[in-house]
Amino acid sequence: MKLTLLVGTMTGTAQLVAQELELAWGDDDLQVETILMEKADATVFQREGLFLIVTSTYGQGDVPDNAKNLYDELKGKRPDLSRVRYGVFGLGDRTYAETFNFGGKRFDDILQELGAQRIGDRVMHDASSGVLPEEMAAEWGEGWLAKAKEVEPVS
Ligand SMILES: Cc1cc2nc3c(=O)[nH]c(=O)nc-3n(C[C@H](O)[C@H](O)[C@H](O)COP(=O)(O)O)c2cc1C
Repeated sequence: MKLTLLVGTMTGTAQLVAQELELAWGDDDLQVETILMEKADATVFQREGLFLIVTSTYGQGDVPDNAKNLYDELKGKRPDLSRVRYGVFGLGDRTYAETFNFGGKRFDDILQELGAQRIGDRVMHDASSGVLPEEMAAEWGEGWLAKAKEVEPVS
């Protein structure tokens, strides 16, 4: 099985989460590749296998700067993503009560609009919680991977 982690980050925390997941999943019969979102355009969703969006939130509930082009392209070009299966690990801070975790939510909303199907619930890490996002990811990742394996990757 192939899995592409797409990382939206401003100060690297989401990238740490992706690294942790790559390590945690490394022993499995799974090919994981991490791509920073500034290096991706909407055609990235033509890749084989599953996707995991790992993104933080900035500004007033915006996606991080490195995720903007990808997000805008999805909104503008509206490719058919009905073959895409994905998960969302969002990073945010509950002190931004009005826009908590909107980065992950924005990607989740547009992917669903374009026909993609989410695997599992959208995760919302809270930077004020005292729980490290990498730790939360490692714990959550096990269950998500089990769910993902039940899904037949559409090729
Ligand atoms: C200027 C600024 C704006 C932020 N805006 C939001 C926000 O609107 N909603 C939210 O949930 N978190 C917000 N955050 C919190 C970040 O998303 C959170 O700290 C995250 O862990 C950062 O991850 P990163 O290093 O991968 O970018 C903001 C943080 C900063 C510094």
